[in-house]
Amino acid sequence: MNVLLLGSGGREHALAWKLAQSPAMTQFYALPGNPGIAEHAEVVEGVPLSAHQTLVAWCRENAIDLVVVGPEAPLVAGLVDRLAEAGIPAFGPTAAAARLEGSKLFTKELCRENGIPTAAFARFTTPESAWAYVHAEGAPIVVKADGLMAGKGVVVALTVEEAIAAIDQVFAAGGQEVLIEEFMEGEEASLFCLVDGETVLPFGSAQDHKRAFDGDLGPNTGGMGAYSPAPVLTPELEARAIREIVVPTAKAMVALGAPFRGVLYAGLMLTASGPKLIEYNCRFGDPECQVLMPRLESDLLPLLDAAAHGKLAEASVSWSPKSALTVVYASRGYPGAHQTGSEISGLEDAARTEGVLVFLAGTKRSGAKLVSNGGRVLNVTGTGADLKAARDRAYEAAEKIQWPEGFYRNDIGWRALK
Ligand code: AMP
Ligand code: GLY
Repeated sequence: MNVLLLGSGGREHALAWKLAQSPAMTQFYALPGNPGIAEHAEVVEGVPLSAHQTLVAWCRENAIDLVVVGPEAPLVAGLVDRLAEAGIPAFGPTAAAARLEGSKLFTKELCRENGIPTAAFARFTTPESAWAYVHAEGAPIVVKADGLMAGKGVVVALTVEEAIAAIDQVFAAGGQEVLIEEFMEGEEASLFCLVDGETVLPFGSAQDHKRAFDGDLGPNTGGMGAYSPAPVLTPELEARAIREIVVPTAKAMVALGAPFRGVLYAGLMLTASGPKLIEYNCRFGDPECQVLMPRLESDLLPLLDAAAHGKLAEASVSWSPKSALTVVYASRGYPGAHQTGSEISGLEDAARTEGVLVFLAGTKRSGAKLVSNGGRVLNVTGTGADLKAARDRAYEAAEKIQWPEGFYRNDIGWRALK
C-alpha cells in the first residue's frame, strides 16, 4: 500500500515507526513530517497541510491508498471529506464526526440524548444567567468554552469567585455560550478505540500528565508524559466504559448520519458510580500514542485500513503484556514563551538503552545538528516487564540526552507507582 501520514509531532513519529514495519507498506510518505519521521518515510515538500485541494491532487498523482491523519485540526477542517469526495481512503473522521472533539456542546448533548454517563451540565448564552447558576450550585464547579481550545478552554473552579471570573473570561474572549459542568471526582484514564461506524475495537489505555511540573503543578500542557496500560482502568471498568460510553456514542453517530471512522479517544473519570466521559478526542493522544505503539504487537497498517473501510468487525488486535512509559522533553518556558534552535545531542546513546525508543517531536535538522523547533521536543519511551521497569529505563535514557535548554518532569507515573 502507498500511505501518506499527516502530522509532525511525537505522536506521528511513533505512528511512522510502527507503520514502517508493516509488510503491507509499499511507498510511505509523510507531510509535514519531522527528522524522526523522515527516518521511516519520505517527507513531501511543498504541500502545506492546510491546502486541502493541493493535498488531494498530490494523493491522486501518487496513487495513495490510505491517508493517516495524526492531528485534530485537519479533521475538524474537513480534510477527510475532501479526500472522500476524490475517492481517497483516510483513517480519521469526517468533519461531522470530528464534532465529538471539535464541539464540547455537541458531545454533551449527544450524551444527554443517549443516556451516556458524563458530568451533569447546563449551558448559558449570557454571563448573568451563568453567574446565577454558579451561585445556586456552589463550587467546585467546571466552566468550559466551546470549540478547540488546545486544552485551555476548561477551568476547574474551586470557588464561586473563580467560576465567575472564568465565565467572564469566556464572554470577554468573544464566546457566545458557556458550558457549566458538575465537578466529577475520581482518577482520570484515557481509553482508545478504533471505530468504523458501528464496530468498536478497544485499542489500549493510558494515563497522561497534563501539568508542566513535578507534583502536577504549574500550567496545563498538551501532556508531559504518559504510561500504558492505565492500571486503574481494570478490565471490568474498561468493558463497562466501552458498553456504556463508546458503543452508544458510535451508534448515535451512525444514527445522526455521521458515522465515526478513526480512533476515538475517550477521556474518562473513574468515579465512585462508574466511568464517566470527560471529553472525546478524535485522534490518538500525544504523548499517549508514544506508549501505545511500542506495546502493539499486531501490524498497524491493516487495522487502520480496516477502520477506514468499515471492516473492523473482521479485525483483531494483540498487545504485549509489557508496560510503556514516556517522558516528554520540552523547551524551557513551555507551555509559555520559549526559544527554539538550541542543539540537542546524546540521542543515539539514549536510543541504545535497552527497551528504549526515542520519538522526535518539535525538532529540525540544522546542518549535521539536531535542534529544537517547538514546545514539546522529544519523547523518551521506556518499555519493561512492569511500569517501574519501564520508568527506570525511560529516565536512564533521558539522562543521556544533552539539551541544556530543555526540561522534563521527574515523576511521570507517580500515581500508578505510589
Ligand atoms: P477537557 O478539556 O474537557 O478534557 O478538560 C480538561 C481537564 O479538566 C480534564 O482532563 C479534567 O482534569 C478536568 N475536567 C474537565 N471536566 C471536568 C469535570 N466535569 N469534573 C472534574 N474535572 C474535569
Ligand atoms: N495528551 C492529551 C492529548 O493528546 O489530547
